[in-house]
Amino acid sequence: MRIAPVAVALALALSLAGDGPAPAQEPVWASSQDYDVPFVPTPPEVVAEMLRLAGVQAGDVLYDLGCGDGRIVVEAARRYGVRAVGIDIDPRRIAESKANAAKAGLAGRVRFLEQNLFEADLREATVVTLYLLSSVNLRLRPKLLTELKPGTRLVSHSFDMSEWRPDKTVVVTTDRGDERDVHLWIVPANVSGRWEWGQGRGADWKRCVLEADQMFQDVTVSAREGDWPLAAGEVSLSGPLFTFRLDVESEGRMQSSIYEGRVSGDTITGTVRPAGAARAAAVAWKAERDPKTAVSIAR
Ligand SMILES: C[S@@+](CC[C@H](N)C(=O)[O-])C[C@H]1O[C@@H](n2cnc3c(N)ncnc32)[C@H](O)[C@@H]1O
Repeated sequence: MRIAPVAVALALALSLAGDGPAPAQEPVWASSQDYDVPFVPTPPEVVAEMLRLAGVQAGDVLYDLGCGDGRIVVEAARRYGVRAVGIDIDPRRIAESKANAAKAGLAGRVRFLEQNLFEADLREATVVTLYLLSSVNLRLRPKLLTELKPGTRLVSHSFDMSEWRPDKTVVVTTDRGDERDVHLWIVPANVSGRWEWGQGRGADWKRCVLEADQMFQDVTVSAREGDWPLAAGEVSLSGPLFTFRLDVESEGRMQSSIYEGRVSGDTITGTVRPAGAARAAAVAWKAERDPKTAVSIAR
């Protein structure tokens, strides 16, 4: 049976989602009504898929925002050996999380902070997990896009990010037979604005300009070489990795080049090669952006 996010939202709001017994002693709803989201734990099989989809690996630092009883944090540290941090506004959830980490013998690898997730410092995270609500995700979205490094993987159980479409969604069937969406986003670099670089040698040297419009990870570009407009295509942005194709007409023939680079602030450093040629044929390429032309992507 598929459970629509709206049904999960309602269940969450009423604290009635059937995710197994809540470990708290008292009725969870009675104490969590002041918080943005009540405590409802993610089923273990969904936790496993969230960590798999995020591609958690050695060296990652995972943050679970609204960590509940700490199960995602504990599983990340236990299964993948990563450092993990849980943040929850409810002191009882933090106490449970610490007890669960101690029981798993992981007290040294994990940290739990009693804090409002909207005030947490997320800059060191390389993976962020969420089981909140769509409305909370939406309020959190600008902070995620501002604070998280490009390439950070963001995984949400059930709830989406509105116009920020997931890079991937998988459906997990729980042991109880209901279906849960697990969404993955890769935090994109900001590539908006006007980029310039020089191309060609001697008398053939030309200044190239690429103008990029960006909506989250979706980018459209227009380009020119000197005064000549260039056809562009195959634009892709994944975290800090920016790729596009430019077509130049030369001696009556179309020549396509593939540009691939890593964005760091106002610089892209990478390579350019003829389309279809092996990577070994690539030569170094570097583009600079006029910082005044960049537009915030933190919507
Ligand atoms: C649906 S539970 C998710 C628990 C855990 N992440 C999981 O997936 O099993 C949401 C948690 O968010 C916490 N929470 C709600 N509002 C919060 C806020 N503003 N800051 C931090 N935690 C919050 C609640 O106390 C609750 O434990």
